[in-house]
Amino acid sequence: MSNPNKNLKKNRVDFNKNESINYNHISDSPYDLFNSWLEEAFLVDKDNANAFVLSTVSKDSLPSSRVVLLRGLSNDGLIFFTNYNSHKSLELSNNNNVSVNFFWPELEKQVRIKGAVCKISDQESDDYFDSRPVDSQLGAILSNQSEDIPLGYDLSEKLVRLRSDLNNRKIDRPEYWGGYLIKANYFEFWQGRPSRLHDRLCYTFINGLWKKSRKSP
Ligand SMILES: Cc1cc2nc3c(=O)[nH]c(=O)nc-3n(C[C@H](O)[C@H](O)[C@H](O)COP(=O)(O)O)c2cc1C
Repeated sequence: MSNPNKNLKKNRVDFNKNESINYNHISDSPYDLFNSWLEEAFLVDKDNANAFVLSTVSKDSLPSSRVVLLRGLSNDGLIFFTNYNSHKSLELSNNNNVSVNFFWPELEKQVRIKGAVCKISDQESDDYFDSRPVDSQLGAILSNQSEDIPLGYDLSEKLVRLRSDLNNRKIDRPEYWGGYLIKANYFEFWQGRPSRLHDRLCYTFINGLWKKSRKSP
């Protein structure tokens, strides 16, 4: 039987790329640095740079995390798309506070974000849905995301049938699928440094302005 335990204690990364945050030259808006780090991340991992961990909380204050994809970014916040009936969406309808985590190992960088979500407009969701590949559109229609289904349920067979029923007709966005905007009120930029002396730059949104601070590693 495999046993990963021997690796858990042994493997060590010393974060020795020698990148750092220049605290003397930081923009007033966290979005400037976030944009530039995200751009860098796409250069080293174009397929996964926009993947992030999204955490929500239940009515009983129990946290829950999963990976979703960043699909829009502006100074208003971050946009992702999902099923509005999913587990995450049910939690968000009760408590719209989220925690976000991007980790780009090749850059030894992490960004933590906190904020509150709201649904984006139907038009924005339509526009994004229309831009998706047909099979992704069909997948959104076929999946009652987060609901229990029988172990032997054949989703691929349903996809083939739906594809043939549609016969190349345009697919409308189901009203239970769409985007959320995360309005951020906190960013923390973490840059790995040798000897665990990492850089941490924080931005907190207070009275309409971003307040900058630094944290001990
Ligand atoms: C790389 C990656 C990207 C994903 N992107 C999305 C996404 O953009 N939207 C989404 O709803 N689920 C996405 N998922 C699936 C979610 O992690 C999760 O399984 C799903 O949203 C159901 O979560 P929930 O039951 O907590 O609502 C992605 C998973 C991975 C591993």
